[in-house]
Amino acid sequence: MILAPGFVSADSLVNTAGRARLRELRAHCPAVLPSLLLCDFGRLAEEIFRLEAAGTACLHLDVMDGHFVPNLTYGLTIVEACRRCTNLVLDVHLMISNPADYLRHYRDAGANVLTIHIEAVRDPRPLLKEIHSLGAAAGLALNPSTPAAAVQPFLADCDLVLPMSVQPGFGGQAFDDTALDKLRQIRDWSRASNPELLLEVDGGINAQTISSCAAAGAQLFVVGSGIFRQKDYAAAINSLTRLAAAGSDNLA
Ligand code: DX5
Ligand code: ZN
Repeated sequence: MILAPGFVSADSLVNTAGRARLRELRAHCPAVLPSLLLCDFGRLAEEIFRLEAAGTACLHLDVMDGHFVPNLTYGLTIVEACRRCTNLVLDVHLMISNPADYLRHYRDAGANVLTIHIEAVRDPRPLLKEIHSLGAAAGLALNPSTPAAAVQPFLADCDLVLPMSVQPGFGGQAFDDTALDKLRQIRDWSRASNPELLLEVDGGINAQTISSCAAAGAQLFVVGSGIFRQKDYAAAINSLTRLAAAGSDNLA
């Protein structure tokens, strides 16, 4: 297959180990992860190239099934389309009711990180194991109404934990500060059980909220409207990254 300049083949990238890619990402922390939910899908490749040029290390892809959350976004086709136009880390956030049925498919489509919701499964452990056996990094997300204690038994089984700072489903919502205590609590627990664990936060992250998330222990910051509703993506990402770095200096 002949690819346009800047495009890469999904096949050549799909076996790149997700956990190694996540370790690379650790070197870029604090890292702002653009959530493509609010990008211009009519110009997807162009949007991704703009983000790459702005220094982005990882893209966050919000998969919603209209059942686990009251919104339907996109699925395998878009993840694969992203993979074809970039070698960036793809962080796929599965807001779906039956993730077990789809893990292999999303990995095959090019995901490096697969995050499932604790509310969607009876026991996350076998799924986190399966994600690892597929060669991807494993994330566990929790909704604002779910207590941090729900994920505590699984901290050693994942690479990343994501306390949501909005009710998942839509971009552009206001930040829910219950995520801050959860970040602090999970950071504390992980010191003993999994010091390598990365903490991500997602929803309502902007210039007003990012520093407190960093001070509470977040390292990866998912941002939708704070980037895609701005003219200059690079300026938005750089100024949010600086605020996050200043916030993490206050990390207890
Ligand atoms: C919410 C999604 C988020 C969201 C982020 O369900 O998981 O990734 O789109 O968008 P903002 O930054 O606008 O809250
Ligand atoms: Zn998300």
